[in-house]
Amino acid sequence: MKHLLSLNDWSTAEILDTLKLAEKLKTETKSGIEHTHHLKGKTLGLIFTKSSTRTRVSFEVGMTQLGGYPIFLNANDIQLGRGETVHDTAKTLSRYLDGIMIRTFKQSDVEDLAKYGDIPIINGLTDLVHPCQILADLLTIYEHKGELKGLKLAYVGDGNNVANSLLIGCAKVGIHISVATPKGFECDASILNIAKEAAKLTGSNILLTNDPAEAVTNADVIYTDTWISMGQESEKQTKVKVFTPYQVNSKLFSYAKEDAIFLHCLPAYRGYEVTQEIIDGPKSVVFDEAENRLHAQKAVMVKLMGN
Ligand code: CP
Ligand code: NVA
Repeated sequence: MKHLLSLNDWSTAEILDTLKLAEKLKTETKSGIEHTHHLKGKTLGLIFTKSSTRTRVSFEVGMTQLGGYPIFLNANDIQLGRGETVHDTAKTLSRYLDGIMIRTFKQSDVEDLAKYGDIPIINGLTDLVHPCQILADLLTIYEHKGELKGLKLAYVGDGNNVANSLLIGCAKVGIHISVATPKGFECDASILNIAKEAAKLTGSNILLTNDPAEAVTNADVIYTDTWISMGQESEKQTKVKVFTPYQVNSKLFSYAKEDAIFLHCLPAYRGYEVTQEIIDGPKSVVFDEAENRLHAQKAVMVKLMGN
């Protein structure tokens, strides 16, 4: 395990091992047991070319709890934002840092950082995937359901970065996944092929549909995300029209299992992709999910950067 560029890079065993470590680190943190030895003296650079609340804060806090130092690098403040190449940035930062977390637009930039640098690279979201989010989601599902394999997760909404990573993550751990998107907003075709290959090995079923009710029927987990991802602000008007039938509300929830839980990576837009009664209701575990970003990413950092 050298990098986390996409969950595709990781085997089922590596994913499950990381979740196990995340659980252990979470228990230790909750019981006040310090674990600063893991990354003592190590430094992680955090490059952001997009906004963030959860990713930035959970990586900074996580790094501190593990004994290391986070350095926040707003892309506008480093030469990358003025046209220095990813190649030269990777080569230079590799001389100072022990790892880099990057949130940016192009997946190829994250892959180039890994190719040209010689330190671990962690993908903190691109237009294509959001692997750290899905590790936290799997941890949350496991905590609430006591298992992963054989459960059914329904994702309703935009076939975006979060949906793409959910496809891979669910397929790799044997969760059945159904994805309901409007026509023209499906998940990435190459990611779907990767997920289908992984699903063959774990027995996960993948269903793609344009019908939200079909996707949600008998689901254990219902998941949605914003209809307007970062960088798509100008598409808001058109997207809202197309996506309105895909709102997660009480009626849609009634097709799921009685004890189904609701997940959302956040930030959420109440009244659009989800109603307030669902996201603020008893089935919602979105803040456990947000908390688990911290624990899951600490496990990722220990796996990639620990001694
Ligand atoms: N879910 C997530 O990645 O949140 P942020 O954009 O706040 O980091
Ligand atoms: N799909 C969203 C996720 C935000 C965490 C986006 O890319 O903006």
